[in-house]
Amino acid sequence: MTVLGIETSCDETAAAVVTGAGEIRANLVLSQLDEHRPFGGVVPEIAARSHLDHIDRLVEQAMAEAGLDFPELDGVAVTAGPGLIGGVFVGVMTAKAIALAWELPFLAVNHLEGHALTARLGSDLAFPYLLLLVSGGHCQLLAVEGVGRYRRLGGTIDDAVGEAFDKTAKLLGLGYPGGPAVERQAAGGDPEAFDLPRPMLGRAGLDFSFSGLKTAVRHAADSAGLLDNPDGDPARKADLAAAFQTAVGDILAERCSKALAVFAEDYGRPGPLVVAGGVAANRHLRQRLDTVAQDIGSTLIAPPPALCTDNAAMIAWAGVERLRLGLTDPLDFAARPRWPLEELAAEARGSR
Ligand code: KG4
Ligand code: ZN
Repeated sequence: MTVLGIETSCDETAAAVVTGAGEIRANLVLSQLDEHRPFGGVVPEIAARSHLDHIDRLVEQAMAEAGLDFPELDGVAVTAGPGLIGGVFVGVMTAKAIALAWELPFLAVNHLEGHALTARLGSDLAFPYLLLLVSGGHCQLLAVEGVGRYRRLGGTIDDAVGEAFDKTAKLLGLGYPGGPAVERQAAGGDPEAFDLPRPMLGRAGLDFSFSGLKTAVRHAADSAGLLDNPDGDPARKADLAAAFQTAVGDILAERCSKALAVFAEDYGRPGPLVVAGGVAANRHLRQRLDTVAQDIGSTLIAPPPALCTDNAAMIAWAGVERLRLGLTDPLDFAARPRWPLEELAAEARGSR
């Protein structure tokens, strides 16, 4: 089984070819960073136009790299939401055109499901597992019971983790995208140099909150003379970045530790804990979560960093998983700007 995957929901134009055995035969990601950098964030209209400019050539390249012609595919999978809708349209229309022209099954993939299933790509990870999904727009703890079957255990009540990284980077003038910049800066800093809060720590339940931490970073940056100051002391910036990253690590570690206990009670097994989404590329956080899992006799499974940030291999793989179960979609499937994962379980999607 071989599936072409297409991803255009944010600021990466991506195309990949993945087999049922979990072999990645092509995985191309074209970043639009340079186009968005002058604006300090993703501009939806620029993103959509850029996807349109590049997607055809990228798909052609991915097929050439995989050494395949379209009739040799078993399906075409595409991110159909959630995301910036202009970009999602570009990917969905491209995938529909290919599916229609070559009479291939069409697979409308939820972007979050792509992240959620990535850990099974090339591994024998079985259901159920506990998933911490941390990206630019999401921060959720989910029990993954099967393909399309996600039970939400907790989530952020305000900002997503990636958003907090991006805002911290902006406050410190570290540029865009924020996550990798904060991680690089934090490497040389002293996390004890600033005293930042850990919102929700010790509270009942499995929810997260990051807006208080973000505000505290702003105040700390202001009093240290770092706010919007490109000439601010680099050593102090490094300290604040490290303090922020450590605070996030403390919050994620405590919530995951509690979630593993809840998961063990509900499913009779101690995890494993899987981390996915762009923030999962962060080495400090991966290490913290690894310790949490090991402490209670569980294991952390984290996909390679390049498969944590947005890519099309994860979409192709989710397509493989859905195709195996006969979960194909009609060609009039509508792209969705909002599409919570839990809705997948409740939906009866038309197979053809
Ligand atoms: O999954 P993703 O690539 O796109 C979304 O679906 O949102 O996640 C992007 C987010 C951004 O907020 C980015 O700053 C963050 O992931 N990120 C990181 C790192 N790499 C990317 N955050 C912390 N450390 C990193 N190394
Ligand atoms: Zn993503």
